[in-house]
Formats: sequence, C-alpha cells, structure tokens
Amino acid sequence: MVSRVIPVQSFDLVLFGATGDLARRKILPSLFHRFQLGQFSDQSRIIGASRSDMDVDSFRQQVAEAVWQFGQKNEVNDKDVAAFIKLLDYVAIDAKGERGWDELAKHMRPDVVRAFYLSVAPSLFGDIATRLRGTGIATDDSRIVVEKPFGHDLESAQALNKALRANFEESQIYRIDHYLGKETVQNLMALRFANSLFEPLWNSSHIDHVQITVAESIGVEGRGEYYDRSGAMRDMVQNHLMQLLCLTAMEPPGNFTPDAVRNEKVKVIEALEPVENSDIARGQYRDQNGQGSYRDHAGNPDSQTESFIAMKVQVANWRWAGTPFYLRTGKCLRERASEIAVFFRDPPHNIFQGSDPAKGNVLVIRLQPDEGITLHTTIKDPGPGGMRLTQAALDMTFADSLPQDERPQDAYERLIMDVIRGNQTLFMRGDEVEAAWAWADPIIAGWDNGRNVPLPYDVGSSGPEDSLRLLHRDERSWRSIGK
Ligand code: BG6
Repeated sequence: MVSRVIPVQSFDLVLFGATGDLARRKILPSLFHRFQLGQFSDQSRIIGASRSDMDVDSFRQQVAEAVWQFGQKNEVNDKDVAAFIKLLDYVAIDAKGERGWDELAKHMRPDVVRAFYLSVAPSLFGDIATRLRGTGIATDDSRIVVEKPFGHDLESAQALNKALRANFEESQIYRIDHYLGKETVQNLMALRFANSLFEPLWNSSHIDHVQITVAESIGVEGRGEYYDRSGAMRDMVQNHLMQLLCLTAMEPPGNFTPDAVRNEKVKVIEALEPVENSDIARGQYRDQNGQGSYRDHAGNPDSQTESFIAMKVQVANWRWAGTPFYLRTGKCLRERASEIAVFFRDPPHNIFQGSDPAKGNVLVIRLQPDEGITLHTTIKDPGPGGMRLTQAALDMTFADSLPQDERPQDAYERLIMDVIRGNQTLFMRGDEVEAAWAWADPIIAGWDNGRNVPLPYDVGSSGPEDSLRLLHRDERSWRSIGK
C-alpha cells in the first residue's frame, strides 16, 4: 500500500489560542508532520494569535519545543523543525478588544486560502468571528474552524451557531469532532459502502445488536473543573459516540459529498428514541491505593457527575427497529480500548448434532489501539474428534498492512488539511450538533434532582455493576474491554 500526499493550496492559517494545550499537543505537531510529508510548501504561513505578549522568535521556540515533545519521536529532526518554524508568525491579540487586529490584517495575503482556527473557549467564538468579519480579515471564502465543546445544551449550541452564522456562511464553518478524523472511523464508511458483502446484512433482520465502547484508562487529569460541568454524557456521548453511532446506522448516502453524508447522519439522530433512566447506568470511579477518586480529581466532594456511562439506545426506523445499540464510555477503566462491535444473529438451525450450536458472527471495528477489523467466525475444531465447532478470528490489523515506515495519522492532520482543501465531509454541520443536543438534553434533565445517581466503580475495572445488568437483562453481555 503506498500512501499519496496530495499538496494543498498555499494558505494563511491563523491559530487563535496558539499557546494553549490543544495547539501544543495536537494542532502544531500535526501541521509539522504534514509539512514534513510535503503536503504544503513554504509559501504557506501559520500565524499564532493569543493574548500573551511575545515576539516571533519566542513563539517559534515554543512551537519547536511542542513539536519535539508531542510529535512522533522517530520523525522529528532538527532540519525539518527549523524549516517548519520559519513558516510561523505571531500576533498578540485581544479577542474582545482592539489590540492586535490591525496587525493581523497586515499579515494576511491575497490569493491564498484563509483559515481561522479557534482553539479557544467557546465563549470567545462570537467575539472573534465578529472581529474577523468586521475588520475584513475574513473574506467570503475564508474558513473558520471551531473546537468542541460546541455548547453545553441545545440552547447554548443554538447561540453559538447564531453567533458564527451572523458572520460566516455554513459552508465556511468547520466544527471539529476529532473522532471523524480517525483512520478507522473513515474506514467504517469504506467497509460499509465500498464492499457489497456487508450492506445486504446491515439491518435488524441480520444484526442482533451493536456495542459501541470508548474506554479510557486515564482519569480526568487536569481538566476536573471542565469535566465536572460536563460528565461523560456531554464530553463523549453527545459528540464522539454519537458520530460512531451515526456512521454505523446511517443509510448509504448518494455520494461522498459533505451534505449527502451529513443529511444521512442527521436522519439517524432524529430517529433516536428518548432514553429512559432504566436504560442508563452511570458511574464514578472511586479511590484505590490513594490515587484519588473522581471527586478528588474533580475537586468536588459532592459531585453527581458521571465519569462513566452506559446506555441502551434505539434507532426508530425501518432498518434498525428491534436492534438495540448499547453505548458505553468512561474514564479510569481497565484499558484504553475503543471499538464498534456488530453482533450478527445466531444461525437459525444447528445441523451439527452433538456440538454446541454456532454463535452469530461478530464484526469488530477497532478504533484504538491496534486499529483494524476482526470478523469472529465459527469453524471446525481442527484435527480428530468429530465435527466439533470452535471460534476463530479473521483479523486485519491495519498496522500489518501498512509499509513499515507508515503509521496511522493523527486525526488532526487529516482534518486540518481538509479545512484547507475546503472539504466539510468530516465536520459536523450546525443542524447535526443541535439535533444531538435535542436528544441529549432530556436524558440529562432526567437525572437531575438526585434521580439516577452515579454508582462507584473501581479504577481499572469495566465500570459499575449496573452497566453489566443493562445487557444481562436482555440476555446479552458486553465484550470485555481490551485484551
Ligand atoms: C475529548 C474529550 O474530546 O476526547 C476527552 O474531551 C477524551 O475527555 C478525548 O479524553 C478522547 O480522545 P481520544 O482520541 O484519546 O480517544
């Protein structure tokens, strides 16, 4: 397999929040890697913008350090870093005031793509968008990129959309959900719509149920304050798991264009049934070995916020009626392991008397780690002993099929290059985000006032007992998390 890097047009990318954590950990190392691969030339510019007073050299130095610290160790070298930081400029700017805007305007060049990446608090989206438009720095074909969280509920998401749309057309707005940039997530679309094998079976007649798991082994780290206002439902389910559910459940779009794909995703969200409290298990990790509990890490001894959630979701449409989707995500679980597991129905009749009946096939799409696809099948147990059945896995680990010097790219690399290319397929449309909040809001409201309190679970476990019951009740069980 030979990957091809298709060069993009020259650009001026203004990165607001350029000294922040996300910029340092993800955005700048991703840009460095695509530069290193030759996807953009030294005709392009990256202009850091933030409140800090700093000269260009200090900013370049900071970026070089970030690339060394967070880039792929075996790929970063002095020569490429030195060439990359020459593309950087810096403007100290005040999002709500006058400072810096005239200077930023002077940096912008005609005839190159203009992109504005807002890696800042959502409360600044409106101010920055208005300034960019008002000063003429943003033109009719400029792009604006915003990060999650995109709102806290439907009302706040609508307000953000309104503020952005007052200054930019929907076709200029790129709302990032980095899960859509993950290699395997895109591969899910290829698997479903570029192969004729699965699609005829991809419905409730053949699929018993689907399990979507995004398990993390880390806790809330230094983000306790933000996380305690969000919880797993707002931080992960409303966006990342929702995207995985949409791509698994959606109808084939007529073509792979942004609106065709996003129209189908919106239809899935709109077909989701309300979820009752009895179909939800919430959890909070508790202290073990003095490492601290969720409440310690969140700095809130009375917190009722969930660091784990599992739920049974029904997609009420012709294709999926009767096939539940079980979603589960949480912090401090036994491993970092994310997958979509599609459980096909058991064979209708057992012809192999004397052997346990064959189980339904399970197709597992692994997002991370070890990205790949596995199809669990039933085969004859090899060797003598009669016709006995056993399970065997047809396994495709993507790393094995890639040339040795290639690795799956970080999601941000692909997404930022798509912004420059002007391709919105892997970005969320405004109505899609609002539909997801419209579904999530009543669920969250349903556990206010002490209803559905999070139950404790051990660090390194698979979540609270209640999550197991959710499936046992339906005579099913979760796949184990990780190996
Ligand atoms: C972020 C969440 O959007 O996704 C984090 O805010 C979470 O809480 C992260 O840890 C998970 O991303 P990934 O790519 O590591 O699975």
